[in-house]
Amino acid sequence: MRVLLLVTAFNGLSQRIYGELKARGHTLSVVLGGNESEVRDAVEQFEPDLILCPFLKHRIPDDIWQQRLCIIIHPGIQGDRGPSSLDWAIIDQQTEWGVTALQADAEMDAGDIWATGNFPMRDASKASLYRRDVTAMASKLVQELMTRVADKGFSPEPLDYSDPKVKGELKPLMKQPLRSIDWLADDSDTILRKIRAADSFPGVLTELYGELVYLYGAHPESTLGGALPKTPLATRDGALCIATTDGAIWVSHMKLKSDTPQFKLPATWVMKAHLDGVPELAPPLLPEMTTPGFQEIRYREADGVGYLHFDFHNGAMGTSQCRRLLHAYQAACRQDTRVLVLMGGEDFWSNGIHLNHIEAADNPADESWRNINAINDLVSAILLTDDKLTVAALGANAGAGGAMMALACDQVVAREGVVLNPHYQSMGLYGSEYWTYSLPKRVGEATARRLTQSCLPVGTTQALKLGLVDKVLEETQSHYERQLIDYCLTLASDHEFHRRLQAKTKTRARDEARHPLAEYRRHELTKMHHCFYEPDSHYHRLRKEFVYKVCPCSTPQRLVYNKPLVKRTG
Ligand code: COA
Repeated sequence: MRVLLLVTAFNGLSQRIYGELKARGHTLSVVLGGNESEVRDAVEQFEPDLILCPFLKHRIPDDIWQQRLCIIIHPGIQGDRGPSSLDWAIIDQQTEWGVTALQADAEMDAGDIWATGNFPMRDASKASLYRRDVTAMASKLVQELMTRVADKGFSPEPLDYSDPKVKGELKPLMKQPLRSIDWLADDSDTILRKIRAADSFPGVLTELYGELVYLYGAHPESTLGGALPKTPLATRDGALCIATTDGAIWVSHMKLKSDTPQFKLPATWVMKAHLDGVPELAPPLLPEMTTPGFQEIRYREADGVGYLHFDFHNGAMGTSQCRRLLHAYQAACRQDTRVLVLMGGEDFWSNGIHLNHIEAADNPADESWRNINAINDLVSAILLTDDKLTVAALGANAGAGGAMMALACDQVVAREGVVLNPHYQSMGLYGSEYWTYSLPKRVGEATARRLTQSCLPVGTTQALKLGLVDKVLEETQSHYERQLIDYCLTLASDHEFHRRLQAKTKTRARDEARHPLAEYRRHELTKMHHCFYEPDSHYHRLRKEFVYKVCPCSTPQRLVYNKPLVKRTG
């Protein structure tokens, strides 16, 4: 089938659907919904059998939905309508939420229903629910949808509010007054919920210490408290612990409200002028999973396997985060284990160097240089680990240097549905993280070139086929965890373990003799130095556009299907 993805942005959900439909043999093209004439041209030139809108905030032009089958993936249960579905679901404390595939119609979100499914709600931010639960359900519904669209006998169900199974309703846009925090009345749970319902966009607008700021990244705190609401109690790794009526909460990120464009930064950076005398709580080197409060890095161990979690906001790893992770990695290496698993975070495994931190630096080129060297030091430590087997457990998406970092591990396993973006060129970068060693080693020179130059997302089916990952585990959280543990236990208890370690050391020595790791690094950093410091580089402009969320004026050519259409007969 020819499927045109009409999207406001080619986000993680759209990337997953794109990869999955392609893997099933469908022909795909993408068009961004911002420019009506571009949308019309795309429809005319591509002649899609189906226009699928996994993430669309724009209206579809009337003539298009009237003439073509257009299906919208709406992140809400049957009958739910409006632009703030997940926000309301969190605020209303729904225990179950859902996704509905509905046909575009004159009335927004009121078209016939092609498929729908529900999932249990988690205590998580809107963005996390969207990236994991909504995305998984949407992928399932799109599979059903493709079968139903091909079935000429199938008719979708009209939306009927008198049907008892239709539980949703039309809800308004949730504006800031509905989100606002009453610090003198709201308890910690209420504040956490309000921030989560607005995270990652638009954030909750509040006044703190005389500044108007948007809040993001809320985490519970179980021991600190006992001060007047809003009092800053402590800081840790850029997050701020704020007193509430019944204790305290952590806020990891803020954005200043200002007449000029701003972007998200660690809370303590934004509030710097107001935190004199507020104690900084140094995190333990390897905090256990149960350590309370805000912890980006956590560690647990079982049956000879160490699991190192690094849950950095948006998967972005600034210089100090890379350094902390390196120290934690080295500490984990000193434990008496055979296998060390790099778990990444809840929503992203890693997205490489921290573009927001770099943008905020006095000298972004110098900070880029520090950051890439810090991540390289970490990757180098992984590559040189010779007394353990290392596993990258991609439970969530990875991009750019983050995707390449995973390849430094001996084994790479991925949760089904994860999307990898093993490329840098769309950010104007050559890339480092020893990718010129790790990527061709896994997939061969030609595929490495194709992956890094086409700048397209890679789904798990393709990643397995190419050898980017060694195994794909089931998507459901409990199954994923069980299968990952089994996989690592098998590695740790393998009677061939020592032989495998020896083989690993031998291969490393052979590779080193052929082409030293330091040479790969030197070559990559020479190219990166050019990207950071030379005036003909596009990196600083592209980074700025990314950080300030400047929408592209037209669809990137790499996403547009450009083979001429062979006119079909009959
Ligand atoms: N630095 C800072 N922030 C980053 C980031 C990075 N390296 N990568 C992602 N983010 C942020 C985004 O700004 C966005 O922020 P939000 O909280 O305002 O929503 C959030 O993470 C999610 O990213 P988004 O782009 O919406 O996710 P996606 O699933 O659509 O796309 C990527 C994933 C990885 C393709 C895309 O985020 C990307 O290109 N990131 C940049 C990667 C990069 O070039 N790194 C530097 C070289 S190593």
